[in-house]
Amino acid sequence: MPKQSDPRDQYDALAGRSEEINGFLRFYRERVEFPSFLRALGSVSGKRVLDVGCGEGVYARLAKQKGAAHVEGVDVSGGLIGIAQSVEDEQPMGISYHVHHAAHMPMLGDFDVAIAVNVLHYAESLEVLSEMCERIAAHLVPGGRLLAYVGNAKCDPGTVADLGFSLDLPPDAEEGDPFTVSIRSTPPASVSVRYWKPQTVARAVKASGFTDVKWEPMVAEPTAGDDTELLERCAKSPISLLLSARKL
Ligand SMILES: C[S@@+](CC[C@H](N)C(=O)[O-])C[C@H]1O[C@@H](n2cnc3c(N)ncnc32)[C@H](O)[C@@H]1O
Repeated sequence: MPKQSDPRDQYDALAGRSEEINGFLRFYRERVEFPSFLRALGSVSGKRVLDVGCGEGVYARLAKQKGAAHVEGVDVSGGLIGIAQSVEDEQPMGISYHVHHAAHMPMLGDFDVAIAVNVLHYAESLEVLSEMCERIAAHLVPGGRLLAYVGNAKCDPGTVADLGFSLDLPPDAEEGDPFTVSIRSTPPASVSVRYWKPQTVARAVKASGFTDVKWEPMVAEPTAGDDTELLERCAKSPISLLLSARKL
C-alpha cells in the first residue's frame, strides 16, 4: 500500500489506472480547466516552458502544440514520467521529462513560463510550499510567467459530486492538514492532498519573488449536448483556482 500522503507513492500506484481516471476528469478538463488555462496563458509561441508536476505530460504537450519552442516536464512520480516519456517516444515532440521533487529540482535552464497544474497543494508544510515556489521562481527569467492551478478545497460539494468526485475535508481542518479527493470509479481512486487556503498559496508565491499575483477568471466552454447548468456551476465554484504571477 502507498504511504498515505506521499504524492510519489500515490501517483506511482495510480499510474496503471490513468486511462480510466482520465475518463472521469475529461468533461471538467475539456470544458472548464483547459479553456480557462489557455485563455490566461495567451501566446507561448517561441517560449521556453517548464511544466512542474507534469504528471503524464498533458500540459507539456499542450504547450508544445501551442507553439512553445522548448518544453521540459518535471514530476516526483517515476510512474507518471514513464507514461509521459512513452507518449514522447511514440509521438516525438521534443519534450524532455525528469523525475524530481519540485522543491529540490536541479536547475534545468531558463524558462519564460512555468506551469504547475494541481501540484502546489501537495506541499506537506508551509516550508515545502515556499521551497517549491522558490525553486520554480529560480527557473524563470525576469518577467517570466507562472500559471498554477491550486486546489479549491472549499468548492461546492454538490458540483463536485455531479462531476463524480468527493472531498473529505473536515469542517475544522487546519492549513496543511491532509484530506482525500476520491473519484467514483470502480474501484474508487483516491489521493491525499493538503488543505491550503488560496491566499496562503498566493502569499507563498509572492514571497518567492513574484509580482502581479492574481486569480484568473474561470470560463466554461460548452459544446452541443453538454450540461450547461453544471458547467456554469463548475466555472463559479471550480475544483481548482487559477493563479497567475510574474517573476520579478
Ligand atoms: C493532480 S496531478 C496533475 C498532473 C498534471 N499537472 C496534469 O494536470 O495533468 C498532480 C501531480 O503532481 C505531482 N506532484 C505532487 N507533488 C509533487 C512535488 N513535490 N514535486 C513534483 N511533482 C509533484 C504528482 O506526482 C502528480 O503527477
